[in-house]
Amino acid sequence: MSSSFGTVFKVTTFGESHGKGVGAVVDGCPPGLAISEKDIQPQLDRRRPGQSRLTTDRDETDQVTILSGVEDGRALGTPIALSVANRDQKPGDYASMLSIPRPSHADYTYQMKYGIRASSGGGRSSARETIGRVAAGAIAEKFLYEEYGIEIVAWVNAVGTITASEIDKNSITRKSVDETIVRCPSEVDAGKMVIAIKDAKEAQDSLGGIITCVCRNVPAGLGEPVFDKMEACLAQAMMSIPATKGFEIGSGFAGTQMLGSRHNDPFILKGEKLGTKTNFSGGVQGGITNGEPIVFRVAFKPPATIGIPQRTVDFEGKQTVLEAKGRHDPCVVPRAVAIVECMAALVIGDFALQQKYREP
Ligand SMILES: Cc1cc2nc3c(=O)[nH]c(=O)nc-3n(C[C@H](O)[C@H](O)[C@H](O)COP(=O)(O)O)c2cc1C
Repeated sequence: MSSSFGTVFKVTTFGESHGKGVGAVVDGCPPGLAISEKDIQPQLDRRRPGQSRLTTDRDETDQVTILSGVEDGRALGTPIALSVANRDQKPGDYASMLSIPRPSHADYTYQMKYGIRASSGGGRSSARETIGRVAAGAIAEKFLYEEYGIEIVAWVNAVGTITASEIDKNSITRKSVDETIVRCPSEVDAGKMVIAIKDAKEAQDSLGGIITCVCRNVPAGLGEPVFDKMEACLAQAMMSIPATKGFEIGSGFAGTQMLGSRHNDPFILKGEKLGTKTNFSGGVQGGITNGEPIVFRVAFKPPATIGIPQRTVDFEGKQTVLEAKGRHDPCVVPRAVAIVECMAALVIGDFALQQKYREP
């Protein structure tokens, strides 16, 4: 079982949804990096449940505590332990689901793998596990910004069948993303998305969506061919987020419908370095960054736990109808924006350190 991620900047997450708490241990943070809870909390606030009427009603403040590895606001280079308490658990909500595996959730597969599972809240399969990644990723983001000026911005590009109009990837900021509760920077489309999510919530149903992410000012040369290509590791990072169903970089699947003559990114001189005129490659060629922005998309399914009665069978195979109780997200993408950004920071941060330590 792997709860660890990364080679040099190595993160291990811990905790279950309804246990005492969740968090992460970060090993390999560059010593001397200025870091405090204040650098980490904003991303946890953007991920936290109960932040708006579009999310689950589970209300957690998700205040992070740094337990080790930092003294007088500076990283010591030793393991940084990050801890967040669970406070608003309601295990009773899961009583009816103890004997019935939720369709398309992880109850059945965890039971098959371990022969035992957390009795409520989904245990490690719950999105609460992602708190540790976000806390660790916020540290990686700080390092990447201070060392290279790297900016990572993700936003909601689609909810159900509503897709946002084209957004300027060079100028988009987290501030503009956060102007709407759905985290779509196009106001008109955001309004439609909000209505769609509210309707799904009222109907006790759920909706999927797409997040787009841009990583700017990433230097050329990051990524480790051949198995640890930048896009391969980004895909792994993104597909490890719960509820993900797809990953595309650059032109993605749409590129299959283009001719090579249109799809190639011609080189041009940008200042003193080579750049490309277009960016269908999404900033990566041969698994190595080329200095252009990394652009990728992540598809999220409609969350599995819904109040609408579902015909299914219990663990014994007996026909039953499941009406899930509890508080659940009608659509995960507004909260997943911070998770996508932080996972991208973990991948790029790890590659940046691998490259740094390689240099003479
Ligand atoms: C931010 C976020 C919130 C989520 N909230 C819920 C939820 O309220 N209910 C639910 O059934 N699944 C939710 N999920 C998804 C489940 O954790 C996930 O679908 C489940 O563990 C099964 O894993 P899989 O979908 O990756 O196969 C959420 C995912 C994310 C990223």
